Parts: sequence; structure tokens; C-alpha cells
Amino acid sequence: MGKFIRLDKLLADSGRWSRKEAKELIRQGRVLVNDITSRESDRKIDPEQDRVTADGSPVNWEEYIYLMLNKPAGVLTATEDKRDRTVLDLVPKEYYRPGLAPVGRLDKDTVGLLLLTNNGPLAHHLLSPRHHVDKTYLAQVDGIGREEDISAFRAGIELADGTKCLPAELEILGPGLCQVTVREGKFHQVKRMLASRGLPVRQLKRLTMGPLRLDEGLKEGDIRPLTGEEIALLLESGK
Ligand code: URA
Repeated sequence: MGKFIRLDKLLADSGRWSRKEAKELIRQGRVLVNDITSRESDRKIDPEQDRVTADGSPVNWEEYIYLMLNKPAGVLTATEDKRDRTVLDLVPKEYYRPGLAPVGRLDKDTVGLLLLTNNGPLAHHLLSPRHHVDKTYLAQVDGIGREEDISAFRAGIELADGTKCLPAELEILGPGLCQVTVREGKFHQVKRMLASRGLPVRQLKRLTMGPLRLDEGLKEGDIRPLTGEEIALLLESGK
């Protein structure tokens, strides 16, 4: 037997209506359950068995949503802020779910891959310090990386304040361009690691997080749901 959910919640979780609008829609007789009008907001629905339509179009229920954002610069990785736009302001209404939040944080001026989900337990797991998720960044830096920098990253960088980082990978892609892979998420970590080697960061872009890779077809500011395959990989990595 599947999991039961109230009819008004099912409609609201689809992201197309607020809970209040959903109740009103149901009251107006515009919602059918298995082809029969249902006017009870608290009717229990089995999302795996029952077929729900509103104004003739099917309403599918998904408990969790997973979104990939190509975060633009100038936007805060937060759920709300009094002054600045946040990544949640970039989520179209149809993808919005209660509890939706970014997984981890990118600095305001960092661009690239950001996962948003309302799957709290998974987010918690992915961010837990004990669960090391690889994250790869492309960094434009002032200066040219050297062999000694690669070795220092491999050995574990000590930041200016004495904080010790786990071993990380530095790849020199060319003058002023390198790729860094870290397994933890300290505050401004990549910038501080590179700065400690005399390579201040001009621009930072996240390319991967665990099994997820930034969809290069996604322009900065664009967002899309993860594919079934990406979700499966992510859930597998979160075990
Ligand atoms: N490291 C940083 O310094 N900044 C980010 O936004 C992410 C990782």
C-alpha cells in the first residue's frame, strides 16, 4: 500500500497552487479523483494508485524535487534576505516546494552548479562533514600555479588562520586558470586555499558536486529539474 496524502496537499505540492487556492479549486468542483468530482480537501489520496486531475489536466505528486541551478554572480545562496536576491528567487513557481533550499553554499560572486532540494535528510547527509562529497571548481587566478602548489594541495593546505584542510587536488590548466577538487566545505575554502599559495581568485565556478556535473547547456541563472538518472546517482551517493 502506498503513502496517503491529503488532496489539497497533493495539489499544493505540485507547485501550481497554494494550499488556499487548492482548497478553493476543490470546493469549486474542478478537481476529479479517478474521474469523479471530489469536494473534500482532506480526502486521503494514494498518489501511486489514484488519478487526480484539475480542470482536466493531470496532477502528479512528487514528494521531493531536485533542481540544478547555474548560479549567477550577485545572488545569495540563502532562502531569504532583506536586501539581496537569493537563489530561491530564481526558482520558477512550478518548481517551488515548501522546504526547498540550497544544498551547501556558494559565495555571492561564485557561479556554477548549485543543487536545490526539499529532501532535507539527503541535503543533511551530503553536507555532513563525515560524508566527503567531491566538489570541483574552475578558478581564474592571478598568477601561475607551480608543481609545489600541486604538492601542497595534495598534502593538505594550512590556511592563514592555521586551519588544516584535507588533501585536495590542484590541476594547472594554463596561465591564470586552474581546477581544484575539495572534499569539504569550509568558509571561502577554495579562495583561501589558493590565496595561501599566492594565487588570489578572480572568478570561481563550480563544475561538479558528487555525481552531478553542471549542465553546460544551462545558462547562468537557468534552472532545471534533475533527470531521473541524475537523481538515481545522487541518491546512491547519499547512502
Ligand atoms: N570555495 C570558495 O572559496 N567559495 C565558494 O563559493 C565555494 C568554495
